[in-house]
Amino acid sequence: MTSQIIPVEPFDFIIFGGTGDLAERKLLPALFQRQQAGQFSDPTRIIGASRAKLTDKEYRDFARTAICDHVKPEEIAATQLDSFLARLSYVAADAVSGDGFARLKKALDGSDSIRAFYLAVAPSLFGSISTNLKEHGMITANSRIVVEKPIGRDLASARELNDQIGKVFSEQQIFRIDHYLGKETVQNLMALRFANALYEPLWNSAHIDHVQITVAETVGLEDRVTYYDKAGALRDMMQNHMLQLLCLVAMEAPASMEADAVRDEKLKVLRSLRRINGNEAPKVSVRGQYRAGASSNGPVKGYVEELANGESSTETFVAIKAEIGNWRWAGVPFYLRTGKRLASRVSEIVIEFKPIPHSIFEESAGNITANQLVIRLQPDEGVKQWIMIKDPGPGGMRLRNVPLDMSFAESFQERNPDAYERLIMDVIRGNQTLFMRRDEVEAAWAWIDPIHNAWDDSRQETQGYTAGTWGPSASIALIERDGRTWHES
Ligand code: BG6
Repeated sequence: MTSQIIPVEPFDFIIFGGTGDLAERKLLPALFQRQQAGQFSDPTRIIGASRAKLTDKEYRDFARTAICDHVKPEEIAATQLDSFLARLSYVAADAVSGDGFARLKKALDGSDSIRAFYLAVAPSLFGSISTNLKEHGMITANSRIVVEKPIGRDLASARELNDQIGKVFSEQQIFRIDHYLGKETVQNLMALRFANALYEPLWNSAHIDHVQITVAETVGLEDRVTYYDKAGALRDMMQNHMLQLLCLVAMEAPASMEADAVRDEKLKVLRSLRRINGNEAPKVSVRGQYRAGASSNGPVKGYVEELANGESSTETFVAIKAEIGNWRWAGVPFYLRTGKRLASRVSEIVIEFKPIPHSIFEESAGNITANQLVIRLQPDEGVKQWIMIKDPGPGGMRLRNVPLDMSFAESFQERNPDAYERLIMDVIRGNQTLFMRRDEVEAAWAWIDPIHNAWDDSRQETQGYTAGTWGPSASIALIERDGRTWHES
């Protein structure tokens, strides 16, 4: 099956941080893929901006290398690459002094295309870039701004950043990226829930025992020491990606796929999350930090050994038992866990249904396992519905738990586009459904902050775990205390 490509209107895409890691690994490859898929209309232009003094030619060379390093060679058509690079130019600009913004304005003048200013820079520069864009008269009615997380490190700093951007851009022009929302399987969660009649009647506390959300990574710090050591897993993953996944599982059916209809429902979930206070935090949260251990490539150092000063209490793992105080979910725990240097790279959502109320089978038929719906976000994207069946054969009634297995890779032969491809095209189309609204970001911080404060106040220790395992034993105890176990991936 081939998906239909509808070209977007011509646009000017300005990347602040144009020579940075995000531009290199994600933005330029994603833009190239969309051009190659035939989604651009002329005259679309891409302008890199950063402090480095580069010529257009040097920027094109940078982009060529970025694309060759991050797109599979068999997916690159040489003619497409050349015509993509011809769209690129470069402006040296300093976000703080404003130097170079006049040159950028000159480059944009005369174009009435859609303008997307992508801020792939530290959040401390969001305010000054926005102000400089305004002062240089670059913001048209057709302009949008795209910002990346972290949007703050707590509620107060998130408000401040939102205020700074909000002084210049209206909420309809602000696209706050959470790249998890651009992942195919995450969007599929909405299709699964709201395009099928099957699940919705069961999607509540009467039929669901609990939900597990795991985002496990095998990588460690990856040269991000300065950012990561100040953030930790609670801010880096839980406040955004994990809570967004929880929202999509738990929200009510929105009235439509309109951005605000979806975001209103997510917001209600975030506001219904039961606050975790100081006394409760040690019982319902676990913070861990990896020690030396192994990865599939051999031995790896512990977290603190990767730091220059050799000490830190920053968590690289967090597990939380969350509860949603509303009619649909009262009494249904959501167990969330995420961490670095875990046993394997897997992101999945497990919906465990309640056990059957009464068994008619003899003991010899074996155990009856509660039904599980497993939504695998990565790798091996797909959905498995586990059900009990009779073991085939004449040997009497034996029951077996088997999956109805829908592997996306096997069912759809197409390339699985990167989340950024979808999200960048949505920015150009002006569709905010998969972007976070200001109140969502702030509601998420309002739930995260008390957990942090509780950890700080009670000096809740980060518990060590060996790299290459599933995290601290306390994380296993967190769920097993309730008579449940983490789904084995
Ligand atoms: C980022 C986090 O937002 O998401 C990283 O800052 C993390 O720490 C990454 O590694 C995970 O994204 P993905 O798409 O590789 O699962």
